[in-house]
Amino acid sequence: MKALVTYYSQTGNTEKVARSIYDSLQADKELLPVHDVRDVTGYDVVFCGFPVQAHSVPVKVHGLLKNLPDGQKVAFFCTHGSLRGGSLPKQAIESAIGMVPRAKVLGTFGCRGKVDPQIIALLRAKPEHRQWAEEAVGADAHPDEADLSDARAFAAGILAKVR
Ligand SMILES: Cc1cc2nc3c(=O)[nH]c(=O)nc-3n(C[C@H](O)[C@H](O)[C@H](O)COP(=O)(O)O)c2cc1C
Repeated sequence: MKALVTYYSQTGNTEKVARSIYDSLQADKELLPVHDVRDVTGYDVVFCGFPVQAHSVPVKVHGLLKNLPDGQKVAFFCTHGSLRGGSLPKQAIESAIGMVPRAKVLGTFGCRGKVDPQIIALLRAKPEHRQWAEEAVGADAHPDEADLSDARAFAAGILAKVR
């Protein structure tokens, strides 16, 4: 069983979750930022993490998603400023799933990640960002230990599906 944990992280939140998932995996495993991934063939499962940006998947992750082999087993994880379980992060995860129509998505996970207060102040003023930016005011302690524990449980559940 070989697992790849790959991620894009602009400010470190998604990287924190990626490392936690990576550390917890009981498998032959690799941890790579998305820009260092050359070839995903040979992995039984790819964990792919990203920060939600503008309700969607950052462009820097698109290349990896386009190059996933047909039938590749994949699990998505993301961090976001908006409330967990809400419709906003769901939209981004659905975009990710829509970008890999030939892959086999085994599961998804999301938790909150802090946002620089200056960014919040800037984006709150823009109608297309207002809702998540207002929700992000309460995200400054995330991802926290409970989020990381949930991420590890998610990862264990994914591995159980691959085996
Ligand atoms: C330009 C920009 C756009 C963002 N857009 C969203 C968004 O649409 N919804 C949301 O919930 N959070 C949004 N966020 C917050 C990030 O998703 C959140 O802070 C995330 O944890 C950052 O992860 P990172 O540290 O791995 O980059 C945005 C942040 C930035 C800087």
